[in-house]
Amino acid sequence: MHKILIIGSEGQIGTELTIGLAKKYGHEKIIASDIKSETAIEAFPVKYYQLDILDGKKLKEIVLEEQVKEVYLLAALLSATAEKNPSFAWELNMQGLFNVLNLAKEGIINKVFWPSSIAVFGPSTPKDATPQQTIMEPTTVYGISKQAGEQWCNYYHKNYGVDVRSIRYPGLISYTSLPGGGTTDYAVDIFYHAKANGEYTSFLEKDTALPMMFMEDAIRATIDLMSAPADTVIHRNSYNIAGFSFTPDKLAQAIKKKLPEFKIDYAPDFRQKIADTWPNSIDDSDARKHWGWNPKFDLEAMVEVMLENVNPNLLFQGQ
Ligand code: NAD
Ligand code: SER
Repeated sequence: MHKILIIGSEGQIGTELTIGLAKKYGHEKIIASDIKSETAIEAFPVKYYQLDILDGKKLKEIVLEEQVKEVYLLAALLSATAEKNPSFAWELNMQGLFNVLNLAKEGIINKVFWPSSIAVFGPSTPKDATPQQTIMEPTTVYGISKQAGEQWCNYYHKNYGVDVRSIRYPGLISYTSLPGGGTTDYAVDIFYHAKANGEYTSFLEKDTALPMMFMEDAIRATIDLMSAPADTVIHRNSYNIAGFSFTPDKLAQAIKKKLPEFKIDYAPDFRQKIADTWPNSIDDSDARKHWGWNPKFDLEAMVEVMLENVNPNLLFQGQ
């Protein structure tokens, strides 16, 4: 029985992707792994390994032992954390990818998912409806690692026939686990603070528009892309996908409709400089055409679900 390995299963995406894949394929087919010593995923228990993705030997042992044929590689440093430790971010984000791609090159695994990001774009990229193929001059370590990773995915596909698939996720919004050190994290944090004490200080300026997406859509996109027939996956670097775009001000207004007392103020920090280099909105027409991508959540639907479900205790546990 072929199995699926998730690397970075304890993160913002991993916790929900693990459950999504377990629901689709059965929990016995899913192996979760992360550098953390144990899993916090309780809803759908799956087999769990502690794994540092930089340990290629242990990765290979797990893959062979468990007969893994498909890998979702989520372990990485995100944009804000990466700027604080550029050389380690480069090592983790690139070597982790090579460790997985090389297993596919050797024919040990058949299929790889690796996430890219809107961070591949930079200040010289058209900001509105950013096209699939355009100028890409990222100015962050994270963006450089994602852009290089995209090119390596394409290279391994073209030269070694590796079936690797990728999505340029926008900022992802979810309530089951906290975000892991990105520039778009404010759009998650705001809900915890709104519910806990009715106010929030945004680390981005009020009018900074960024592309965002509700996690349920992102998980569906990931599983749909990975299940699509190989010949429909034309772009082997990565696909643009879009949900909706908003500014901190627009998000605050949407929250106020539900919580009229909610207050926001602004204290931009180093993450503003990162956000200023990213697109306002994304053109995802190729993903729609090639493998049928279609988002379900808009801003209002996302705000409603978030306010219903965020548990402020999670925020304070993490402090
Ligand atoms: P996260 O930081 O929440 O989770 C990453 C997980 O990887 C964590 O559980 C962490 O413990 C684990 N990890 C860290 N180092 C590891 C190592 N050496 N070996 C094994 N595991 C390790 O990140 P996320 O938001 O879930 O993002 C997952 C992927 O998606 C990343 O590649 C990220 O760049 C990409 N992405 C995320 C977003 C977003 O908004 N969340 C947007 C675009 C792209
Ligand atoms: N949400 C991610 C970040 O801000 C985008 O890749 O780093």
